Amino acid sequence: MNNIISYIEENKNRYVEELSDFLRMESISSSPQHKDETRRCAHWVETHLRDMGIENVEFIETEGHPIIYAEWMGAPGKPTVLLYGHYDVQPVDPIELWTTGPFEPTIRNGDIYARGSTDDKGQVFTHFKSVEAYMKQNGSLPVNLKMVIEGEEEIGSANLEKFVRENKEKLKSDIVLISDTAMYAKGVPTICYGLRGLSYFQIDMTGPNRDLHSGSFGGAVQNPAQGLAEMLASLKDKNGKIRIPGFYEDVRKLTKKEREAFAKLPFKERKYAKQLGVKELFGEKGYSTLERVWARPTFEINGMWSGFTGEGAKTVLPSKAHAKVSMRLVPDQNPNKIARLFKKHIKEITPENVTVELTQMHGAKPALAPIDSLGVQAAAEALKKGFGKKPLLQREGGSIPIVVTFQQFLKTTPVLLGFGLPDDNPHSPDEHFNLDNFHNGIKTSAYFFDTLASMSNGR
Ligand code: BES
Ligand code: ZN
Repeated sequence: MNNIISYIEENKNRYVEELSDFLRMESISSSPQHKDETRRCAHWVETHLRDMGIENVEFIETEGHPIIYAEWMGAPGKPTVLLYGHYDVQPVDPIELWTTGPFEPTIRNGDIYARGSTDDKGQVFTHFKSVEAYMKQNGSLPVNLKMVIEGEEEIGSANLEKFVRENKEKLKSDIVLISDTAMYAKGVPTICYGLRGLSYFQIDMTGPNRDLHSGSFGGAVQNPAQGLAEMLASLKDKNGKIRIPGFYEDVRKLTKKEREAFAKLPFKERKYAKQLGVKELFGEKGYSTLERVWARPTFEINGMWSGFTGEGAKTVLPSKAHAKVSMRLVPDQNPNKIARLFKKHIKEITPENVTVELTQMHGAKPALAPIDSLGVQAAAEALKKGFGKKPLLQREGGSIPIVVTFQQFLKTTPVLLGFGLPDDNPHSPDEHFNLDNFHNGIKTSAYFFDTLASMSNGR
């Protein structure tokens, strides 16, 4: 093990340079203009894994962006780890709010800034580099390893889902290892055991058949922007409760034990509000902030547009109004059922004098991972060595759509070992990844494989 850790130490700077190469590629999965660049990034991953010493690497075509699959099965009798991560990233807008270009990785104060640095290229790269250390130093790994690195996580993982369903034998594994979450705070290593799900819609409301002069026609017809605003406003009450009938039916209640555990975590509401630039926090009455974001469902408006939004004033009554909205879901809510309830309710509350079209976008099931698995025990040991502290257990508010598919179809246990930080700005301008976490993450990954192998002895 010492030779692995010293290799990681010695190659620290090169690792950062290589991560920068990974970050320069504009692999925005949701953008058709970035299709070739996303593919180039997939090829980069493929080549990189081969150069690390993994011979069996496959470039898998899908109807969308490619999947990179790799495996090293040279440890018979040892557990098989499936490493999952994603090379695709979110769009960069509003680009004017970035201090340096989103695809020009720059180091400031010990953080590397670029789109995808924490979500998820930097995090998945921690494992690449520990695997490299083993392959270059020992020519082998302590466990068997399969890797699935996809390019569509940020758009719902639909093609990967199909791939997993069709390749159960190929992907068979004991543990799925994922680093795509955050630590509770700097210096507080964390294992995540819960993720929220998602149901996402675009709403297009149409009133008159064209934009109208608001002087000549204002007052004569329903304004769709007004109609949409009223409709959306009615979906949540003053106490933050969502007013879609049946929405809370399957929500699993927080246990007393879990509430106590959340309450024990150091959390300063005032500081949190200040960091976000809000005077006060707002959310569902009767729940703490951590409960609200980790274990309660939400309805949020992600974007709205209608009529004239340019500079100056234009007296117009728009023909159309649009919104993108999403609901975060918790166990045991089902995204399909929620989508059905949402569509039904929207139909019922649509004003009579306009029409509404609903387009359902990606969804994800909420996930819970067992906390007493061998994988989680090994991860806890590894974090203790890599970060020098016993890890904390927490849930997260975000979603990783494929987790439940892995659980259901491969019967494998997830280990959510996140190296991000809560203020890394994923999906926002100035996304960054802490280089200490990168470095300690690589060591943790190396310890994880080693610990898992020794813990499984005698199985
Ligand atoms: N890395 C995130 C998931 C995440 C976010 C975990 C926040 C913990 C906290 C992931 O890449 C992501 O953003 N997922 C999307 C999925 C969606 C597009 C289906 C999300 O949560 O919005
Ligand atoms: Zn991610």
